[in-house]
Amino acid sequence: MHPDPSKKYRAFPPVHLPDRQWPNRVLTAAPRWCSVDLRDGNQALAVPMNVSQKLELFQTLVKIGFKEIEVGFPSASNTEFTFNRRLIEEKRAPDDVWLQVLVQAREDLIERTVESLIGAKKVIIHMYNSTSPAQRRVVFGKSKDEIKAIAVNGAKMIKDRLHRLKGTEVMLQYSPESFSMTEVEYAKEISEAVMDVWQPTPQHKMILNLPDTVEVAMPNVYADQIEWICKNIKHRDSLIISLHTHNDRCTGVAATELGLLAGADRVEGTLFGNGERTGNLDLVTVALNLYMHGIHPKLDFSNLAAIIDVYERSTGMTVPPRQPYAGELVFTAFSGSHQDAIKKGLAEREKIPGAHWDVPYLTIDPADIGREYREVIRVNSQSGKGGVAYLLESEFGIELPKDMQREFGPIANDAVDKLGREVSGAELKAMFWQEYVERITPWSLKGFETESKNGVVKCRAQLLRNGQAVEFKGEGNGPLAALVHGFTTAGVPRFEITNYSEHALSSGETAAAISYIQIKTADGQTRWGAGVDTNIELASVRAVLSALNRL
Ligand code: KIV
Ligand code: ZN
Repeated sequence: MHPDPSKKYRAFPPVHLPDRQWPNRVLTAAPRWCSVDLRDGNQALAVPMNVSQKLELFQTLVKIGFKEIEVGFPSASNTEFTFNRRLIEEKRAPDDVWLQVLVQAREDLIERTVESLIGAKKVIIHMYNSTSPAQRRVVFGKSKDEIKAIAVNGAKMIKDRLHRLKGTEVMLQYSPESFSMTEVEYAKEISEAVMDVWQPTPQHKMILNLPDTVEVAMPNVYADQIEWICKNIKHRDSLIISLHTHNDRCTGVAATELGLLAGADRVEGTLFGNGERTGNLDLVTVALNLYMHGIHPKLDFSNLAAIIDVYERSTGMTVPPRQPYAGELVFTAFSGSHQDAIKKGLAEREKIPGAHWDVPYLTIDPADIGREYREVIRVNSQSGKGGVAYLLESEFGIELPKDMQREFGPIANDAVDKLGREVSGAELKAMFWQEYVERITPWSLKGFETESKNGVVKCRAQLLRNGQAVEFKGEGNGPLAALVHGFTTAGVPRFEITNYSEHALSSGETAAAISYIQIKTADGQTRWGAGVDTNIELASVRAVLSALNRL
């Protein structure tokens, strides 16, 4: 790295906007959306989509609810042209969906683009040329006026050909490409020059798309640029102001959200942010960010997994595990305190149906986008007792008493630590079984009978102690009291039962009941034990033996 970056780089100059309004606003409605997956997304793939992949993705975009879809650059290649023709000729676009096509301000390309649109129901012709100082100087070697002339001539060429699209509803879109690196005054000047040609009206607006082609500043600067244009451009009411952000500084979503506050009406982007370099704006994130604020985005992501599936298959890209909303790990809590808080939040919701979502650490209800609560908690060595208990309960109906959770939590963490990976619910249950239920030394059960008379219970226990048969009798006010008494008669150091609970196990289990018992020895040691049996009395006896075996 450069020892003094200021010698090599400089900050992007801020916009003079002393009376900026966007910081005080809040978003209250969804914008118009336009997916550019099939163009900006497709052009950035190592292997671009073939026609059938594009068709599948197109249908998916329609199903999600996009009403404006940039389907490609029909003048760029035969594949693009053919794809466009197929969409039109096979009437693949519903009547309310606009097919958007991109074209540079060049006559041959415009000619071919118009040809590709004949017979369509609704189209957006999107023309662009680059306007930033670097592009003017380095790429075109042209003055501001010469660059403006490119845009104006392109606009005229399109206008002159519109008569060929009889029966087609046409909307026109202009992008001063690299807008965010362009002087705002010049972006206004060139956009107004295009407006002079296209003559938009409040009844027949044109789209003015203001791309953050390469992010070079913080998102507040983009918001200022958008607000400046909204305030200063002529005939604002004849324009649909559109945002098109990329993600070079990882603030594409932020720039779009602030741009909407600044007055924009429309957002272009791609699913999961696919696109050139670091990608385009991730439409899914912006839409679901609105949703989590109670604003319906008018896009349907209720089966996000199915959308991810089509996206990954058609683009060959993968959705990273920590991608907002969509990533595999987004609804997974590893930390014990998070797990505990989530568990409490979910439990509270069950008691207050209809309450606003307020579950710690979960931005939205995973179920709203087709995710499952089961994915919320997994267990690794950092997981707390809450996560362990949640998993045992949610997957197997094993309801550990609170105090036993405190004992088993660290035992499970230790075992998971040794494995060096996270474990499934089934593995966790196996650990619990091994630690408590399957302990058979020194004590194991051969037989246990009781009889009750006048409130006194007498028991006869047949046990093995390290493989040797031991038999004793005892009595008390219940079977467990009788068992404890019997143990003392057999010379086992005194202990008492300090905690007891039991419940039926879920139907999948061969055994019907589980019993949890905590004992305390005369010298103050406490241990939990668990026993499983079809007979609840025997489950309790087994639990006592399990606790003794853990001393
Ligand atoms: O990023 C960009 O500037 C573009 C334009 C063509 C709109 O994709
Ligand atoms: Zn782009």
